[in-house]
Amino acid sequence: MGNKVTITWVEETDSTQDEVRRHIREYANMSVVAALYQTAGRGQRGNKWHSGKGENLTFSMLALFGKDGFPPIPATRQFDLTKAATLGVAGYLETKGIECSIKWPNDIYVRNKKICGMLIENVLEDGFVGSSIIGIGLNVNQKDFPPGLVNPTSMSMSTGKTYDIREELEKLSASLEEWFGKIFDQSRPDGIDGFYEDRLYRKGVTCEYVLCSDGSVFEGTIIGVSPDGKLLIKKKNGELNQFAFKEISYII
Ligand code: BTN
Repeated sequence: MGNKVTITWVEETDSTQDEVRRHIREYANMSVVAALYQTAGRGQRGNKWHSGKGENLTFSMLALFGKDGFPPIPATRQFDLTKAATLGVAGYLETKGIECSIKWPNDIYVRNKKICGMLIENVLEDGFVGSSIIGIGLNVNQKDFPPGLVNPTSMSMSTGKTYDIREELEKLSASLEEWFGKIFDQSRPDGIDGFYEDRLYRKGVTCEYVLCSDGSVFEGTIIGVSPDGKLLIKKKNGELNQFAFKEISYII
């Protein structure tokens, strides 16, 4: 099973997500395509992803399942991929001395600022994940961000150091490889779930959230994440609610 990361750098592309998708048959499991610059980098909720040329890591990793890749994952467990990807980035940042948490579902935060965003695009086939393109934008050396971005930060802003992005991608890829391997490690009964919840931003902290359907604000406490990736929040009145992505937003 070829589960080792191989990295290809391109000077410029529209989006590494689309670059991988266009050539998906040519790439093996755990291929990484990284770009020095994306002309149309995509973020969550249809947003653009901004990244200064050559300053940061913008890359996509292909995960394949079945005979050419990892063991099959049922669609109901697709959130495991989000857990492995976020834990891979968080574990790597920790080795750099950067303390971070995972803002559900897949942002990485340093205190109240976003250092990394992810766009995970899964293709489902007959109730299983056929392939997944995991797009990661990690702010590395950038210190000036365009106005309008919400709370950006970077590794350089956290540590005062400047990094070689190619070397850092090698290290980050090794961490991702390790955490993807852990999804299939049967020796831990709770798998990677506990690790994800331990790193969850604002877990156990009572604060306000916005219900996207009507803009109302409510107070609640994050208590965890369901197996299918919904955020579990206990409201002030004791009611337990679960929210899918885009159903609530944080007030930061
Ligand atoms: C977000 O937080 O909005 C998600 C950002 C994801 C950005 C990465 S950069 C590499 C890959 N290619 C893209 O076009 N998007 C992802």
